[in-house]
Amino acid sequence: MENESSAIKTRVLAVDSREPESSVVETAAAIIRRRGLVAFPTETVYGLGADATDAEAVAKIFAAKRRPTTDPLIVHIADASDLDSIATNVSPLARKLAEAFWPGPLTLVLERGERIPAEVSAGLDTVAVRLPAHAVAVALIRAAHTPIAAPSANLFSRPSPTQAKHVSQDLDGRVELILDGGPTAVGLESTVLDLTVDPPAVLRPGGVSIEAIRELIPDVAYAARHVDAGEAVSSPGMLLKHYSPRAEVRLFVGERDAVLERMRQEAAVVTPGQTVGVMATSEDADALAHIPQVVIGSNLNEVGHNLFDGLRQLDDLGVEIVLVRAPVREGVGETIWDRLYRAAEGRVIEVS
Ligand code: TXA
Ligand code: MG
Repeated sequence: MENESSAIKTRVLAVDSREPESSVVETAAAIIRRRGLVAFPTETVYGLGADATDAEAVAKIFAAKRRPTTDPLIVHIADASDLDSIATNVSPLARKLAEAFWPGPLTLVLERGERIPAEVSAGLDTVAVRLPAHAVAVALIRAAHTPIAAPSANLFSRPSPTQAKHVSQDLDGRVELILDGGPTAVGLESTVLDLTVDPPAVLRPGGVSIEAIRELIPDVAYAARHVDAGEAVSSPGMLLKHYSPRAEVRLFVGERDAVLERMRQEAAVVTPGQTVGVMATSEDADALAHIPQVVIGSNLNEVGHNLFDGLRQLDDLGVEIVLVRAPVREGVGETIWDRLYRAAEGRVIEVS
């Protein structure tokens, strides 16, 4: 039993995602000001927020999520002009990126300013900052009169929450208040871009595509996850485990028809007693019709929007093995690929 947080009674308040009611925002802001935790919607995923300038408040985030204190948090601001109170030596390039992509799903890693305690950044001298494109998030930060540190509002290693009910599933009894602003628009987390290295490096692909960043930083570094021969079976290491549903995810890569055929075979030979399901695009639904399925959309934006909910739905169906056809690795497809690869813990099946 986790006695520290299980004593909390979690409230859920509905909030208008375009014109948040000031009474609701004030209730949430008051909790942040007295060092409590509030889960709130952003355009990417729901965040689990606390006062980013207060080490004690921030410590509660790590405890509630069961997140290792070695994994740094993102600081959310309400105005680009707040950047200089969070980070130091903000470069012209950082300002240009902020101008181009904020508010929006781009997180910039910069030199950490004194106002942000080291605990936020897991002891690093850097700080990750973003300005979310969501009226509720912005109103909350403004009303709290402080930047808000917030990781995704899921239990550590679970799929990120894109609906308030996902937050409840993971954090009921561990957070004071959940603001329910409906499903998030993007459904995938922000792109994390490190500007403290040369050339700047994408640490996590996300809602802003690598291609879009490349237009401003032609030599931006990005260590895409590759499937090398044998890698899939040899290194499904624990470090990869992230965004994982309870079920085992298997990711199929290759030409569409061959992959669909292989997925049907795979579903047929699963160990008796185990249940298999597919997470399918609308395009593939018919070809996989006899396998229990959750359909997550017809284009990459829809798939991104529904991806984490799809993984949770398959868990709710009691499916133990989830088969997924890999998306094209372009634009938001690269981000989807990254999340699926991690959910699969490296279980990639290349079909030729
Ligand atoms: O869209 C998002 O980014 C959501 C919403 C709530 O804003 N937040 C989110 O936070 O996804 P989280 O904590 O789940 O992921 C933050 C990522 C982690 O991979 C973390 O390691 C990285 O950002 N990060 C944070 N601070 C960093 C730093 N100073 N240096 C390098 N990486 C950092
Ligand atoms: Mg997360």
